[in-house]
Amino acid sequence: MRLDKFLCDTLGVTRKEANQILRTKTVTVDGEMEKKAATQVSEDSVVEWEGRQLTLSGPRYIMLYKPEGFVCSHEDGSHPSVLTLLDEIKLEDLHFAGRLDVDTTGLVLITDDGQWSHRITSPKHKCPKTYRVWLADPVQPDYAEKFEQGIQLKSEDGLTLPAQLDVRAEKEVLLTIHEGKYHQVKRMFAALGNKVEALHREFIGEIEMDESLELGEYRYLTQEEIESIWK
Ligand code: URA
Repeated sequence: MRLDKFLCDTLGVTRKEANQILRTKTVTVDGEMEKKAATQVSEDSVVEWEGRQLTLSGPRYIMLYKPEGFVCSHEDGSHPSVLTLLDEIKLEDLHFAGRLDVDTTGLVLITDDGQWSHRITSPKHKCPKTYRVWLADPVQPDYAEKFEQGIQLKSEDGLTLPAQLDVRAEKEVLLTIHEGKYHQVKRMFAALGNKVEALHREFIGEIEMDESLELGEYRYLTQEEIESIWK
């Protein structure tokens, strides 16, 4: 493949822009500065731009530790997108495998693989998501049973799917749900007359929030984590 085409595919730029980049002498091939558009690169070539290696790699699977104050969408008039925390090219190709509210923290999965994210978000697959919830009022003895039986949410037909409650402290629980309705966890507790003070997602399926990440940091998923979604 020609080097200018390689830059187009990896950086999402036009041929003309690729040639402009080459003229800035910021591209190296196998460690040597290269500015000729017609130079051939192979799968084994190491191409770098401004010191960053460019790969014609397959799909991306990202785990982000979402801080408060960021939205899980490409744009929002009042808050920055979590995508602004990513040092990635072609941001427009990425989407969320399940969103979090602006004030929720924790695990967000971001990918450009639609089939993979569908497996997480489609109600058909009932992928479990576990949240740590801090409540305004103490947990009541009948909560676990009520969550297991399903909760009637305002303006929704039917009950929520059975959800599992693990009480960790007087006002702190882990709740596992198997669907992803709008503001679901907050609305489930509201239906019981309680209020969610803070919410943090710890698991999506078997993928656990990597607590070695700082708030706002991200890493690529391991092969095992990616494959766990298909189990
Ligand atoms: N449920 C909510 O209410 N908010 C979230 O961010 C995620 C689940």
